Amino acid sequence: MQNHPVIKLIQQSNYIPEIPKAFGEALNMLLEPFEFSMDECIERLNNVPGLETALIQVLNYTSTLNREFLTLKDAVLYLGAKNIRMIAIAYITRLLLPNSSGRAKIFNNRTYWKHCIGTSIASHMIAAKTGLCDRDRIFTYGLIHDIGITVLDICLPDHLDRIYTMQIERGIHQIAAEKIVLGGITHSEIGMWLCDEWGLPDEIKEIVGCHHYPFKNGNAGDEIKIIYLADSVSSNYYERLLGTDTTFIYTERTKKLLNLPKEFIEDMANKLPEEVAKVNSIIDFDLF
Ligand SMILES: [Fe+2]
Ligand SMILES: [Fe+2]
Repeated sequence: MQNHPVIKLIQQSNYIPEIPKAFGEALNMLLEPFEFSMDECIERLNNVPGLETALIQVLNYTSTLNREFLTLKDAVLYLGAKNIRMIAIAYITRLLLPNSSGRAKIFNNRTYWKHCIGTSIASHMIAAKTGLCDRDRIFTYGLIHDIGITVLDICLPDHLDRIYTMQIERGIHQIAAEKIVLGGITHSEIGMWLCDEWGLPDEIKEIVGCHHYPFKNGNAGDEIKIIYLADSVSSNYYERLLGTDTTFIYTERTKKLLNLPKEFIEDMANKLPEEVAKVNSIIDFDLF
């Protein structure tokens, strides 16, 4: 992967921010918060440039408490591991974006970010319904599952615009368009490469790399299946935002993956727009 010409172009663009290895270590701790001391975790998070400021600003902006948060430790202790994990992942995902509009000219990353939040919410609902995995954990995975797209937006915006135009104007499926424009690879492989570069936990790398291929090897885990279905539901929501026809139809096979009734999926799709608007106002880093 390291030698693929598109990965080389991404590296040469010099747009990928350096994330200290300590961030991956901190995320691993936040995934298993009872096995680590919070102080060690806070020490590592302190090494991520700008994270403390972002967290404190989010808190002071959204909190209705009559107190001010001054340090990262304050924020971590108040919010708890689950919420810090969510905000930290949202933060590094958005960290890639140089400004609120990204670099692509046709593709709109703010609308795409709504797709990511939609995937988080849908996966949280599916996890709650099936009890197959931790719902807060899967919520954070939804935010980062398409980080490969964000990499394209900042490093190779012209490539992303070409992919997007093929989808919109010629109705070519996203994955097929990516393979044509990116010489055989897709945002999944690019995202996996970034997970390695940033030292993110293996389970995040697996979600990023496999969320389009749950059928590929017969033993995909429950989390991959849930993200796959949530991504499908949220892709339809995203396409409605774009005003295009639905190109992704979730097949019987998809629904059978998790044995969910049709009514549940329809209900989830109906609730998505309102729920996305709520979450988007909480993790809106354009505040800064
Ligand atoms: Fe994706
Ligand atoms: Fe997606």
